Amino acid sequence: MKVVNEANLNFLSRSSNESYARIATAGFFTQLDPTVDEISDIKTAVSEAVTNCIVHAYRDTLGKIYLTVRILEDRTAYIKIRDRGCGIPDVKQAMEPMFTTAAQEERAGLGFAVMQAFMDKVTVRSNPGKGTTVTMVKKLQSRGEHD
Ligand SMILES: Nc1ncnc2c1ncn2[C@@H]1O[C@H](COP(=O)(O)OP(=O)(O)OP(=O)(O)O)[C@@H](O)[C@H]1O
Ligand SMILES: [Mg+2]
Repeated sequence: MKVVNEANLNFLSRSSNESYARIATAGFFTQLDPTVDEISDIKTAVSEAVTNCIVHAYRDTLGKIYLTVRILEDRTAYIKIRDRGCGIPDVKQAMEPMFTTAAQEERAGLGFAVMQAFMDKVTVRSNPGKGTTVTMVKKLQSRGEHD
């Protein structure tokens, strides 16, 4: 699909940068005049993906997180979140609701399920030892002619 606009951001896997990534993403998509619900869905999905990089990919270390946001044709929002962390040995299993490698009382294992619920499509590619890339797409409602 044709890229209409794009921005890239990279930041350290400090937990304070989760809100930065979420707000920067929301700011970028403001140009599409999204609904309050759409922007909230996008922020939640980004928050889950970035939190995974912080708590899983770079568990006991600090590393870089790479965020790409794009507007594709037909009001399609595209988000890519990449890390160079530990990777996921079994992506299919990791994406199952309630699957977590964290202590049960610590994490619900619902991050990927939330991303899938709020976005149209979520794709995860991972290389153990090399890192993980999460790509998410959501087509925004058409806003009609209001002027
Ligand atoms: N970027 C990543 N790098 C390495 N492992 C990851 C990454 N993202 C997810 N995982 C693995 O996939 C599992 C499932 O992720 P998911 O976000 O669904 O649940 P969670 O993070 O364990 O819990 P929750 O998101 O509900 O707090 C994680 O427990 C972790 O093992
Ligand atoms: Mg998670």
